[in-house]
Amino acid sequence: MSTDGVVIERLSGPDDLTGVLEVESESFTNPWTREMYEWELTNRDICRVYVVRTPAHGVAGFCAFWLVFDEIHINNIAMRPACRGVGLGTRLLQHIFTEGRAMGATRATLEVRASNVGARRLYERLGFAVAGLRRRYYTNPEEDALILWHEQI
Ligand SMILES: CC(C)(COP(=O)(O)OP(=O)(O)OC[C@H]1O[C@@H](n2cnc3c(N)ncnc32)[C@H](O)[C@@H]1OP(=O)(O)O)[C@@H](O)C(=O)NCCC(=O)NCCS
Repeated sequence: MSTDGVVIERLSGPDDLTGVLEVESESFTNPWTREMYEWELTNRDICRVYVVRTPAHGVAGFCAFWLVFDEIHINNIAMRPACRGVGLGTRLLQHIFTEGRAMGATRATLEVRASNVGARRLYERLGFAVAGLRRRYYTNPEEDALILWHEQI
């Protein structure tokens, strides 16, 4: 635990999953379902979900990613609205890079809505760069996805 009481660790059970689903529904217009996360959790070699805990929130935020050979594929990252903009997303990604490196990862990738300026600023600050575009990838509302890569985590 850090001095401010923030803990980052792998999702540990059904209570955490409920917290993750709350953050999902507060953050995305097409949230992942419980079944989608349960599938992730049965494939623990590849699929990883990390949660951020604060003194006020058992699950303040989370990140779900796959470890594919030497690549981290970030599928989802979100913080509770009340927990945004105070550095927790940065700390979570840095933690995942550290864990990923220990498991042999060297690169990381993710997709982001073109209009998600706050998230893009965070990713670029951490070393991600735009490498491609998937037209009309997102629905509700329809929007292009930018494909970002970090070539040396
Ligand atoms: C994207 C997200 C995970 C980042 O987590 P976070 O804890 O807010 O991230 P940080 O505080 O470390 O950094 C966020 C950046 O946005 C800025 N910011 C300030 N207030 C903010 C707020 N209320 N919400 C979001 N970002 C804010 C921060 O200043 C920071 O940028 P800067 O340090 O370069 O100025 C979080 O904002 C979130 O859950 N957003 C909604 C879901 C989402 O868009 N997920 C990404 C999908 S690809």
